[in-house]
Amino acid sequence: MRLLVTGGAGFIGANYVQQVLAAHPDDSIVTLDLLTYAGNLANLESVLDDPRHRFVRGDIADRAAVAAAIGDGVDAIVNFAAESHVDRSIADAGAFLATNVLGTQVLLDAARAHGVGRFLQVSTDEVYGSLGPSGAFSEETPLAPNSPYAASKAAADLLVRAAHHTHGLPAFVTRCSNNYGPYQFPEKLIPLFVTNALADQPLPLYGDGRQVRDWIHVEDHCRGIDLVLREGRVGEVYNLGGGNERENIEIAGCILETLGKPRSLIRHVTDRLGHDRRYAIDARKIERELGWKPRRDFARGLRDTIEWYRAHRAWWEAVRSGAYLDYYEGMYGQRLRGAAGAEEDRT
Ligand code: NAD
Ligand code: DAU
Repeated sequence: MRLLVTGGAGFIGANYVQQVLAAHPDDSIVTLDLLTYAGNLANLESVLDDPRHRFVRGDIADRAAVAAAIGDGVDAIVNFAAESHVDRSIADAGAFLATNVLGTQVLLDAARAHGVGRFLQVSTDEVYGSLGPSGAFSEETPLAPNSPYAASKAAADLLVRAAHHTHGLPAFVTRCSNNYGPYQFPEKLIPLFVTNALADQPLPLYGDGRQVRDWIHVEDHCRGIDLVLREGRVGEVYNLGGGNERENIEIAGCILETLGKPRSLIRHVTDRLGHDRRYAIDARKIERELGWKPRRDFARGLRDTIEWYRAHRAWWEAVRSGAYLDYYEGMYGQRLRGAAGAEEDRT
């Protein structure tokens, strides 16, 4: 297969590109990525010289750039490209609409114009909203996105649905829970807490820290996406999850224990606005239809991931400089100073 992978210099996309080139010797990939703050060519270092891979810098919302990346034609488009961080969408939703909504429509139009045989939209469980203490999201759960990020992803899912229904585009949507693993940008919970702990900096835990996420190793997610692309039923939505529900405070504790750092590094800070309390995934459809199941054990996978960040200090130190420092101060400066003040008041 010839694939166009958009957003392939980001966390999950880069893992996917590497996995596909390793698993399918006859495949070739064009990676189209704008290299925003979250995109990093270093994530693709191992495949940059592979003759089966070509990197193109460009915006998925730019019709000419997309047409140029498709070139003589591709058999499939897998769309990872997105603004992906909930907190940033709360601060400013503009880029989320431009990339996640308009950019997806540009890709859908290009797929039709070039007769692309398969289109897979990488979506998220956040489109379903938040759960109470029990139950899980199935593919039939009504969409109820709560953050601007989640709303933009839900809009994209509906555009994909419409392209399939109206124009017969052979499309798929996958909706996955929280990923962890190598190359994740250190604004997300696990890499932020690991890199802060390695640097002996506080771990800013939102609210009471009892929110629940269902963690899945990025390799299991990528394997599921690839299976849907090759063997899924056209027009269908498939949920993917790790079956691994954890409270954020438990994740923070595991990271500190693994690194031999004190629990006193945990700081309870002001909660995220509109914070979803719990996500859980019912992945029985993909298990039943395609025989997919997550393989990576969470305790082991988390240890391996922590080890990856320990061994790749140069990677995350390079990322955590420049504009990242402005972002960090804006997002956490006041919250952390407030938390430190509250702790002093208590003593
Ligand atoms: P990421 O932020 O690490 O990477 C996003 C990539 O998209 C970056 O390389 C960035 O440069 C690129 N990009 C952004 N705007 C672009 C544009 N306009 N044109 C071209 N490229 C652009 O994100 P991620 O965590 O790897 O997530 C990838 C996809 O998976 C997203 O669609 C996200 O919604 C979805 N998803 C993520 C998770 C998770 O836990 N991280 C879970 C489920 C679904
Ligand atoms: O569920 C899938 C989604 O998972 C993806 O669609 C998103 O792209 C991805 O970013 C992720 O969204 P979350 O908001 O769940 O991930 P994040 O890592 O930002 O936060 C995980 C939990 O940790 C959440 O309850 C908020 C909390 N948190 C996060 C940060 C960054 C903290 O307590 N402190 C923090 O500093």
